[in-house]
Amino acid sequence: MAFPMDRPRRLRSTPAMRRLAAETRVHPADLVLPMFVREGLTEPRPIDAMPGVVQHTLDSLRRAAAEAVADGVGGLMIFGVPERRDAQGSGATDPSGILNVAIRSLAADLGDATVLMADLCLDEFTDHGHCGVLGDDGTVDNDATLERYAEMGVALAEAGAHLVGTSGMMDGQVGAVRAALDAAAHPQTGIIGYAAKYASACYGPFREAVESALRGDRRSYQLDPANRRAGAREVALDLAEGADMVIVKPAGWYLDVLSDAAAVSSVPVAAYQVSGEYSMIQAAASRGWIDLDDAVRESLTAIRRAGADVILTYWAAEVAAGRRSGRFSWA
Ligand code: PBG
Repeated sequence: MAFPMDRPRRLRSTPAMRRLAAETRVHPADLVLPMFVREGLTEPRPIDAMPGVVQHTLDSLRRAAAEAVADGVGGLMIFGVPERRDAQGSGATDPSGILNVAIRSLAADLGDATVLMADLCLDEFTDHGHCGVLGDDGTVDNDATLERYAEMGVALAEAGAHLVGTSGMMDGQVGAVRAALDAAAHPQTGIIGYAAKYASACYGPFREAVESALRGDRRSYQLDPANRRAGAREVALDLAEGADMVIVKPAGWYLDVLSDAAAVSSVPVAAYQVSGEYSMIQAAASRGWIDLDDAVRESLTAIRRAGADVILTYWAAEVAAGRRSGRFSWA
């Protein structure tokens, strides 16, 4: 044994010592709450696969959003679920489509008190459920989709989104949306680019949340989970095309990709703790197999430790409220 013996346990000896020595903290101001609004609902509708998360009516969305912002969350990411769908995803660009209506209401309610983000993708609006429009051969037509994304970006900017979240994994999507926003006199509307989005089993519960019509999968556009370099390449492309923030998604199983992104990014790096990550922890906790609060705390801490500046999480509002009550006192 070497003397004097190194005793790292000194720094772990008391709660106060551990608090002082902590390298990583999660603050509600860094958390973004994803929310779902469903056209034609009269009551909020629970999502079975995501206990505690609901499809909101427009009214309940407005109330819950105001509450989350008052509790201190850093931003909101809004997903719209339309009543009717078609091949082009027309509801996405219709100013009276549910997502645009919701963004307009929230912008009126909240102004600049929060960062209002909107999902920029066609999958909730298409009858085939893909993230873009289909070509004659039945595959997603990249460049035709870019034209729809450009229109959708402008519609969302006009509705009042601060940031649009390009989540479709089409090549060139950030550049196309940036050019369209600038041409439509929306240079101040930013883009949060889902740069490294992997084709993941962890999106399963989300498909219920948005009543996804998808048959098949998204493997021809989302990243292959086997590939770390491909994630770095997509991050570099989003940065080059002018993304104001980049997202790695899912978060917990992709901490290496997140750490790579954090090492090179010149803009804030976000990580999306997706529906399946949420539901797995909720399910195990509801059976008493793991402690919910400890698992929430540890999962968020790990994502932050790997390099996330911002975390999108379905627990954002609970963590923010729990900071006051002491439930999430580390925050
Ligand atoms: C696509 C989109 C998806 C998610 C966010 N944006 C679904 C998908 O790509 O299949 C998943 C989010 C989650 O699982 O929490 N618009």
